[in-house]
Amino acid sequence: MLQHLQLYHQTNTTMKIKTLTPLATMAILMAGALLSGFNFPQDKWVVPDEYKNMENEYAGEDEDGIGEELYEQHCKSCHGEEGHGDGTKAKELETPLRDLTSEEVQSQTDGELYYKAIIGRDEMPNFEKKIRDEEDRWMLINYLRALAK
Ligand code: HEC
Repeated sequence: MLQHLQLYHQTNTTMKIKTLTPLATMAILMAGALLSGFNFPQDKWVVPDEYKNMENEYAGEDEDGIGEELYEQHCKSCHGEEGHGDGTKAKELETPLRDLTSEEVQSQTDGELYYKAIIGRDEMPNFEKKIRDEEDRWMLINYLRALAK
């Protein structure tokens, strides 16, 4: 009887270790990910469909240079004069900046860029209050397109 119990106890412990080890490893990995947080490459940034499919009624326009002016005023400090991610404030950021003229950024819809530029997330500031006019916002998006040309 006693032998039997011991055996039972042993297998039980081994089983516990077996199930707990992967769990513990996961917990440690997750804690590490949280601690180093923003140093990880950006998480996929999912843009809600209602933004993604938004139509840019002003596509291609920026005659008065409003987009450029807004960019210089609000965006250049991080994203750099030409959008390459080399602004003076870029060094202070934890999140890596993508080159705004790159294929991975430019292949997105105007609506996606609008969402990211105006709503933002984390270190990418929200500009809903600072850039209120809808037409101005699109001029800014048009300027992001112009940067890539
Ligand atoms: C304080 C620094 C800062 C300023 C100012 C700033 N950005 Fe950003 N921007 C970021 C960071 C950081 C990211 C990356 C965010 C992420 O991936 O979580 C980003 C991402 C973006 C993206 C998404 C690019 C991609 O990965 O697809 C766009 C578009 C963008 N910014 C446009 C703008 C525009 C337009 C302005 C000015 C109105 C602006 N940003 C001002 C820091 C800044």
